[in-house]
Amino acid sequence: MVDKALNDTHQSAFDAIKETVGEFTVADPKMRTKNVDVFYGDKQAIFDVSLDIGNNEVIAMIGPSGCGKSTFLRCLNRMNDTIPTCRVSGSMSLEGEDLYGPNLDPVLLRARVGMVFQKPNPFAKSIYDNVAYGPRIHGLSNNRAELDDIVIGSLKKAGLYDEVKDRLEAPGTSLSGGQQQRLCIARTIAVSPEVILMDEPCSALDPIATARIEELIDELRENYAIAIVTHSMQQAARVSQRTAYFHLGKLVEVGETNHIFTNPSHELTENYITGRFG
Ligand SMILES: Nc1ncnc2c1ncn2[C@@H]1O[C@H](COP(=O)(O)OP(=O)(O)O)[C@@H](O)[C@H]1O
Ligand SMILES: [Mg+2]
Repeated sequence: MVDKALNDTHQSAFDAIKETVGEFTVADPKMRTKNVDVFYGDKQAIFDVSLDIGNNEVIAMIGPSGCGKSTFLRCLNRMNDTIPTCRVSGSMSLEGEDLYGPNLDPVLLRARVGMVFQKPNPFAKSIYDNVAYGPRIHGLSNNRAELDDIVIGSLKKAGLYDEVKDRLEAPGTSLSGGQQQRLCIARTIAVSPEVILMDEPCSALDPIATARIEELIDELRENYAIAIVTHSMQQAARVSQRTAYFHLGKLVEVGETNHIFTNPSHELTENYITGRFG
């Protein structure tokens, strides 16, 4: 059991946090968020968070369970819209376009800002149809040959093609967990997103499958902006260039990953990364 005294200390340190430590803006932002609050009914889950997501960067979001990482991530492609009690305020934009503006179609937004979940969730369809699903509903191909190109290209980018090329008609669910997660990544890539959000994408995978996904994340950075929530500090250190530390719904500190893990500026960040709290 975590010490009650320690918890109280953290609560009071937390109460004193007025501003995020570190630079929350970047020179080349893909997405910008400013003064974001999120409520579930009367309960506030995110407090005044401002954070940019840069082009071609992997930003890791870390912090104790329940600190709001998934909630914040879900704001970035309006997945919270699907939760009736959830209310979001503040400003959020993608390439300068207001995410909550009247002209923005959330379905199109979710193609531009794709999401990979904790548990691989392939559709009950063939490997091919899993990847072809998005391009079909968004009308991204004119004929079967074009669709084949998108499916094969996406499977290649997700590092899965060689393992499945002889069984594209097999069910997605017949793959191993790690392969299923790469299939879900291929499905996300197939609609040409600009940003990929990943919520603890490796937590259901073994170490080898995890290593494969981490390599893939590094390769994907060349073409996409990536925000990854992880409870593994080692993973954050391995895959990200910037790290954001959340605590009880506030963004405590953000900065270069090396800096956050070797020389954090805030006491709460330090306590978390040294394992004293979490
Ligand atoms: N659908 C929901 N309805 C009500 N409260 C929620 C819901 N999802 C999350 N919360 C609450 O919001 C807070 C942040 O949760 P979450 O974003 O899931 O944190 P994390 O991903 O960091 O573990 C928690 O207090 C959690 O209980
Ligand atoms: Mg979560």
